[in-house]
Amino acid sequence: MLKKTLNKKMKPIPYGRQFISDEDIQAVIETLQSDFLTQGPKIAEFENAFAKYIGSKYAIALANGTAALHLCAMALKVKPGQKVITTPITFAASANCVKYCGGDVVFADIDAETYLLDIEEVEKLLRSEPKGTFAGIIPVDFAGRTVNMESFRKLADEYGCWIIEDACHAPGGFFTDSNGNNQLCGNGKFSDLTIFSFHPVKHIACGEGGMITTNSEELYKKLLLLRTHGITKDPSLLHENHGGWYYEMQELGYNYRLTDFQAALGISQLKRADEGLAKRREIAGKYFDAFKNNPEILSQSGVVDGHAYHLYIIQVARRKELYDFLRSKNIFCQVHYIPVHLLPYYQSLGSQKGQFPLAEKYYEQCLSLPMYPTLKDEEQQFVIEKVKDFFLHNETKETQDISKKWL
Ligand SMILES: Cc1ncc(COP(=O)(O)O)c(C=O)c1O
Repeated sequence: MLKKTLNKKMKPIPYGRQFISDEDIQAVIETLQSDFLTQGPKIAEFENAFAKYIGSKYAIALANGTAALHLCAMALKVKPGQKVITTPITFAASANCVKYCGGDVVFADIDAETYLLDIEEVEKLLRSEPKGTFAGIIPVDFAGRTVNMESFRKLADEYGCWIIEDACHAPGGFFTDSNGNNQLCGNGKFSDLTIFSFHPVKHIACGEGGMITTNSEELYKKLLLLRTHGITKDPSLLHENHGGWYYEMQELGYNYRLTDFQAALGISQLKRADEGLAKRREIAGKYFDAFKNNPEILSQSGVVDGHAYHLYIIQVARRKELYDFLRSKNIFCQVHYIPVHLLPYYQSLGSQKGQFPLAEKYYEQCLSLPMYPTLKDEEQQFVIEKVKDFFLHNETKETQDISKKWL
């Protein structure tokens, strides 16, 4: 009876959502009332604060994570026919940036335990072709679990590849290097470029928004140009100068700018980033404890140092039934991701079912449980209880069926 009341009262629980505080709202209002809605001072303020948080030399704010990926591929000069390696278990944008520039995406399978791009599979691919065949690698800190970028850098250097790290899921996440030092995702020491997204379900929400971090001054300058149509007014870069109004379009770029009011929201959100991360880690710990002795949970994200827990993923045999059951209880889980090589567009380019068995097996079983800093303790307990109920209910049904057979 008590449980039923709880269920009725419980608001829908999504898998992820933004946390907007009164300070965030105030920061946006102040910027809306200021002289600049875009191309104003909030952009550099956000970039500087983000670079400081991540530990990189430079940061470039952009309209969204996809635009960030596109400009990275452009800045690294991806050309038609060039091959770039990435993981099938990511959002399509990680791969699409290569296609925007006419390059070819080559997928490599994931590691079954971490769900991340398997470095051994990448090495096999690199070895299988003459050096220079592959231009770059795009590892993804999927779900917030961080890639060991030191190992990837070593491998990339051996084969003359650049690295774009897709850290959309992992601002504040880190891996521990061979000297025992924690290295924050995107600090510029290992990848050429790292990208982040500020979509509302991510750690820092701007509505839409993205960031690139790097330690390369050359790439930084190139990205600034590409972000605004390839146009510059910098006197030191101009071929001619007709006066104060004069600008030159020196490359084919885009308008991929973030607005100042989005940047103001980002600055305000960034102040709470560590708090949010700590809360995500606490939620992950609770899920892990709740399910660690449950044999129906085939695998789960677990408690991992440096994990930024954008998502908490469990793997179960009857995923669709569990998903539907939880929906019927107002719990809106999600599946991350349909393997990119199986999306119709990539299949039309030649990818096939069966090519990456671990990624495909993972997809059959994965489910992302609600994970966001404002998830209340009673809401998480409700989710845990319903997941357990599902297995209890199904087990009972099976046991009854079997016992009927014996009768
Ligand atoms: C791994 C990954 N890469 C790239 C993106 C693209 O970011 P955005 O939605 O900001 O364009 C996302 C966002 O969903 C993502 O999850």
